[in-house]
Amino acid sequence: MRILAIETSCDETGVAVVEDGRRIRSNVIASQAAHELTGGIVPEVAAREHLRALDPITQQALRDARMELREVDAVAATVGPGLIGALLVGANYGRGLALAAGLPFVGVNHLEGHVYANWLYESDDVPPEPELPAVVLVVSGAHSDLVLMEAHRRFRLLGRTIDDAAGEAFDKVARLLGLGFPGGPLIERAAKEGDANAYPLPKAWLADRYDFSFSGLKTAVLRLVRSLEEKGVVPVADVAASFQKAITEALAEKTARAAAEHGVRSVMLGGGVAANLALRAEIERRIGMPLRVPPPRLCTDNGAMVGAAAFFSLRHRTTEIPSLVRSNMPLA
Ligand code: KG4
Ligand code: ZN
Repeated sequence: MRILAIETSCDETGVAVVEDGRRIRSNVIASQAAHELTGGIVPEVAAREHLRALDPITQQALRDARMELREVDAVAATVGPGLIGALLVGANYGRGLALAAGLPFVGVNHLEGHVYANWLYESDDVPPEPELPAVVLVVSGAHSDLVLMEAHRRFRLLGRTIDDAAGEAFDKVARLLGLGFPGGPLIERAAKEGDANAYPLPKAWLADRYDFSFSGLKTAVLRLVRSLEEKGVVPVADVAASFQKAITEALAEKTARAAAEHGVRSVMLGGGVAANLALRAEIERRIGMPLRVPPPRLCTDNGAMVGAAAFFSLRHRTTEIPSLVRSNMPLA
């Protein structure tokens, strides 16, 4: 079964063709450069950029897969959570395509997409599917959810952020340090040259709960930077490394504790922050099994993950398939 899948929930326009929920036949992604100027995402600009990019990107995705629309079996699109205008553009475009080609339309929860990115592969050798039950940490620009995946499409929320999302914290600290946007990859790069023990920062700890809180850490970094500025120099690499250590340790410790408590068969990451190598290392060090992480290109928003989630939605209908576009759509 081949699914043409569309992702437009935030600032990435993605269209992919995915076979049987796992094999990527094509995966075209256009990042909206417009937001670099504003240092953050302007929702209306995002929606307009999606509208402009969708048609050429869809044609490219079909060309890369060497397919015509009529050879596809279904059309899928993210219907939430995300920016409502951006979601509406992609979902309506997808519905229109499906209607024109006489194909079924499948609505996809973006967060399920981040989870199912772990099922994707590009090469000829087929990696084994992740074993369930699993603990999954979904960390993106808007979400930090720690979930127990009991079976396909059966998620139980263990904990989540009570304030900022992990990616949001990376982005805000990057802006504070004058590094640019999006902040995650820039902090990671700067941190490589820095000393992670240079500045002790609060570890964003909510003891004996699986929830996260990052706003205190963000404020602590703000205070630190202000006091360093008064002294005349801000050692950007050291601050970046100290911040990265504090945030990744909090995420890793809770993920590892959840995995041990629930005796799961795998531990997986998803979402843009999962591209962070320090986070992976912190988790791997604590769990007694290999960690599943999609390749960096599939951690950040893309169409292929939507195609994977759509396939498993059709195969496991136990959980309702979302059809209406909603900005707020929890994973569990
Ligand atoms: O999943 P995603 O592409 O979009 C959302 O659904 O939000 O995640 C984007 C977030 C941004 O906050 C970005 O700074 C962060 O993921 N990110 C990273 C890295 N790459 C992207 N954070 C830390 N380290 C990275 N290497
Ligand atoms: Zn995302």
